[in-house]
Amino acid sequence: MAAKHFLDLSAVSAHDLGGIMNDAMWRRAATKAGEADKPLTGKMLGMIFEKPSTRTRVSFDVAMRHLGGETLLMSATEMQLGRTETIGDTAKVLSRYVDAIMVRTTDHKRLLELAEHATVPVINGLTDDTHPCQILADIMTFEDHRGPVRGKTFAWTGDGNNVLHSFVEGAARFGYRMKIAVPLGSEPKYRFLNWARNQGASIMLCHDAENAVTEADCVITDTWVSMNSEDKAPGRNVLQPFQVNKQLMMRAKSNALFMHCLPAHRGQEVTDEVIDGPQSVVFDEAENRLHAQKSILAWCLGAI
Ligand code: CP
Ligand code: NVA
Repeated sequence: MAAKHFLDLSAVSAHDLGGIMNDAMWRRAATKAGEADKPLTGKMLGMIFEKPSTRTRVSFDVAMRHLGGETLLMSATEMQLGRTETIGDTAKVLSRYVDAIMVRTTDHKRLLELAEHATVPVINGLTDDTHPCQILADIMTFEDHRGPVRGKTFAWTGDGNNVLHSFVEGAARFGYRMKIAVPLGSEPKYRFLNWARNQGASIMLCHDAENAVTEADCVITDTWVSMNSEDKAPGRNVLQPFQVNKQLMMRAKSNALFMHCLPAHRGQEVTDEVIDGPQSVVFDEAENRLHAQKSILAWCLGAI
């Protein structure tokens, strides 16, 4: 049987994503109740990082341990992969040692190549193009506070980056609307917009943060300069009108949530007043990474 990879929200059916979300809520309740939940006993997760990480690294590590499994952390610079070994050969070798591979990499093609050659499940822990694990945690967080996301409006303001691409795919899978404001030249890649719109998602793209945020149920932003995109980032003066501050939040619904995947650059894409304010749920998002990762691992390894 082919390995069950978790590569992107567009690559997993809405039915399976719904199952992962339900499982995450159930496992979170079980963890908080102190119930033993160890379906991955004896399993090993290999984690390859080609970029820095705090949340993804720690939440996958802790999730795997809670589920009874173990982890092996590999920094690409300390692997032969970081010298001359191919991704394909690396995938084949690691598949002989571990039961699943989580990778954070640069070019999305590297993720796809790893998955093509691995005989064990591969999980996308962020690429230059997407960050699907983050969006599951974010949807869980919204639903914890405000109920089902279907029909709700999520506004994105800032750079058109990997996290946004996965939010766009999520709109097609989970039924929320997206209103996106980015500077001219920082648009998300059109293949993500086209795919989601072809699936029936409602996605509005503009260059005016106030327009995007007006009457939104949730306001989302992310760093202005993503890892490995430093040379493409527009200047601060171009991005400043997309900052989430109190004035901008006042355009959204009065009960709108503020979300950010973290790490945040306070004073740039978001002010302290907003990220530390009553509408912010950024640390709930971070916590839900742990619960969502458990269910992604369980799904990949046949424990859902
Ligand atoms: N949000 C997120 O993926 O954080 P890390 O880069 O710390 O993993
Ligand atoms: N867009 C950010 C997300 C970090 C979790 C980056 O890629 O650097």
